[in-house]
Amino acid sequence: MIVPSSPLVSWINILRNIFTPRLTEESFPANSYCFSRGSVALYFGVIAALKGKTGHLWVPGYFCDEVLEPLRKTGIKIFFYPVGLDMLPDWQRFPKVSDSNSVHKAFLLVHYFGFNSDKSIEIDFCKQNGLVLIEDKAHCLEKIIKNHEFITIYSPRKQIGLASGGLLILPDDFVLNEYKTLVELSVTNTLNWFFKRYLRLLVFKSEKLSRFLRSKNILSNNTHLPLERMNNLSIKIMTDFYSRSLEKAISKRRANYKYISNNIKGLQLFDEFMNGLTETGSPFMISVFINGDVKKIKRHLNRVGIPAASWPDLPHEVINNPGQFKNTHYLYNKLLHLPVHQDLSRKQLNFINITLKSLNHDFVE
Ligand SMILES: Cc1ncc(COP(=O)(O)O)c(C=O)c1O
Repeated sequence: MIVPSSPLVSWINILRNIFTPRLTEESFPANSYCFSRGSVALYFGVIAALKGKTGHLWVPGYFCDEVLEPLRKTGIKIFFYPVGLDMLPDWQRFPKVSDSNSVHKAFLLVHYFGFNSDKSIEIDFCKQNGLVLIEDKAHCLEKIIKNHEFITIYSPRKQIGLASGGLLILPDDFVLNEYKTLVELSVTNTLNWFFKRYLRLLVFKSEKLSRFLRSKNILSNNTHLPLERMNNLSIKIMTDFYSRSLEKAISKRRANYKYISNNIKGLQLFDEFMNGLTETGSPFMISVFINGDVKKIKRHLNRVGIPAASWPDLPHEVINNPGQFKNTHYLYNKLLHLPVHQDLSRKQLNFINITLKSLNHDFVE
């Protein structure tokens, strides 16, 4: 069996929206912008926060380096802050923030894996130090409310399974002038992407063929990083998903999370990263600490068709500084992430649970 690593919107949703009229700007929360990816939404969110392409940005050390790629090409200085084993900022070790009033400064708070973390300490910290707070909700699936108090970004392409989709929502006192000048990602690219993804789902039924195509990089995701806008077709599909399927997807993710979390409770090889679900969480993945050889276990899971993932590359500033980023290195080396998304069937969840149990048996007992 092969378990899909991410969800995909339904054919019905796509077909229904090919023929519906263009959406108007009023269909979205005021001051919201749709880009090709969450990384692009973040790029423009930071530029809006810093009022240009210079200034200081504070990012958690546990952050995927690829996402920062567009920002690194600007004059913005990126600083990394250490996190604790709970992934929240480690305030004891937080480096000094410049107290110059002439430098624009922003602070990025990430709501990891779809759990909404309480942000009261971060809000106070930003007020005291003159930083603009940016909320990174790329891992969250939730209702997009109209009035955001803070700059917020989402990655619907990841959370609902779209060819493109990164949302930026700005509070009223921020502006983004560049949006209108950006090119739209082509509709052909969108349809082509859906075609490949659906083909892949069919191919998954034949594990040998699936492995062959993956090894040759055929049918892989087309995820590039140019600074583009989302096209209207993708926006319609996304809006349709949010209005018809959101609640169901969130409760499915919560139930899937609980199903796997309950299963690993008695298994010595695994420790759940988060301590249970929060009331407002819509988990994107279940993250588990591995009490053993992480690489070996990941290899085994991948070999049988379970897309256990480790965190993608860390920024080089963090990799080269294991002393300051001790917890980040630990999380990076010890955590594995398993899917709990809304498209998983009970059969696939059972397969994950049985495999985890048998791994525990082989590696511990
Ligand atoms: C914390 C975080 N922020 C932003 C992004 C960017 O989202 P996208 O992949 O849509 O560019 C990611 C992607 O993995 C992420 O993990």
